[in-house]
Amino acid sequence: MSKNVSIDWSSLSFSYTKTDLRYVSIWKDGKWDEGKLTEDNMITISEASTAIHYGQQCFEGLKAYRTPNGDVQLFRPDENAKRMIQSCNRVMMPEVPVEKFIDACMQVVKANLHWVPPYGTGATLYLRPYVIGIGHNLGVKSAPEFMFGVFAVPVGPYFKGGMAPVNFTIADMDRAAPHGTGAAKVGGNYAGSMLPNYEAKKRGFADCIYLDPATHTKIEEVGAANFFGITSDGKFVTPISPSILPSITKYSLMHLAKEYLKLSVEERDCYIDNLDEFTEAGACGTAAVITPIGGIEYKGQLHVFHSETEVGPVTKKLYDTLVGIQFGEIDAPKGWIYKVE
Ligand SMILES: Cc1ncc(COP(=O)(O)O)c(C=O)c1O
Repeated sequence: MSKNVSIDWSSLSFSYTKTDLRYVSIWKDGKWDEGKLTEDNMITISEASTAIHYGQQCFEGLKAYRTPNGDVQLFRPDENAKRMIQSCNRVMMPEVPVEKFIDACMQVVKANLHWVPPYGTGATLYLRPYVIGIGHNLGVKSAPEFMFGVFAVPVGPYFKGGMAPVNFTIADMDRAAPHGTGAAKVGGNYAGSMLPNYEAKKRGFADCIYLDPATHTKIEEVGAANFFGITSDGKFVTPISPSILPSITKYSLMHLAKEYLKLSVEERDCYIDNLDEFTEAGACGTAAVITPIGGIEYKGQLHVFHSETEVGPVTKKLYDTLVGIQFGEIDAPKGWIYKVE
């Protein structure tokens, strides 16, 4: 696509578009090479790569935002870098150092600046860093070589025409095992979530909620997002579990709830039998931003929180604060914003 082609930014969806340049670096003989930008969006790897057969891979997701004065900024890329190190460790891949990760993201955004949607469209440039095991290997063991890549795709706002609540159902399948890979951002967790997601959508729900795999009594994840609830006495509550992916958006909201909205914050068990304790509920993540939860279907009953059509007041305030910071309208806590210069 040429630099002059005009895009209808406001009608972008969360889908793939080939942008100009992407970053690739190879790990071989114990170290990462310098890495380079390439126009080629296809990867040629050994048919015996561990990424293909044994799911030895991980990925990240973060966004570049255009601010009112036209600047471009990243939101907490250091946190994504640190989480990718955790994921790499869990599936025996070499760590990508934090500086290398941030440098790669910066290079990709700078090389695709005209793909960063204009301020006010609600659209952003989504970055997808990943590490995959490559090279010839047959047995179940760590790969001889690895590839670290980052590509960028302009994506639309999650909420078409405003922030509207959606309903979820409880999955009867698990996305993670009690001591498995749930806390790592590895592909296998997502392959396992495709069928329950498909089943939930077929029944008219936005996605499904996963309960803890050991007892099936506590809320863990809302599709590919974390859960939060607001209690009638104004507490921000979110589940804690070793099989939840630690959401950067969730930890950011915990800080904003406490410091900006002056709410008390609790990270603790959220029992599916005790949904009455919440007057509002939401799903949060980089792609979802904040999705208000209208209701949750459990054992044939739909439990409605604030409303199936209206966004609750605390959820709205959290959304406005988070998005305001990400787009540079509200002062961010120190160290959260990385300007692309
Ligand atoms: C399973 C899962 N949970 C939660 C999240 C939200 O995490 P974050 O806020 O870091 O995007 C994501 C998305 O990355 C996810 O895939």
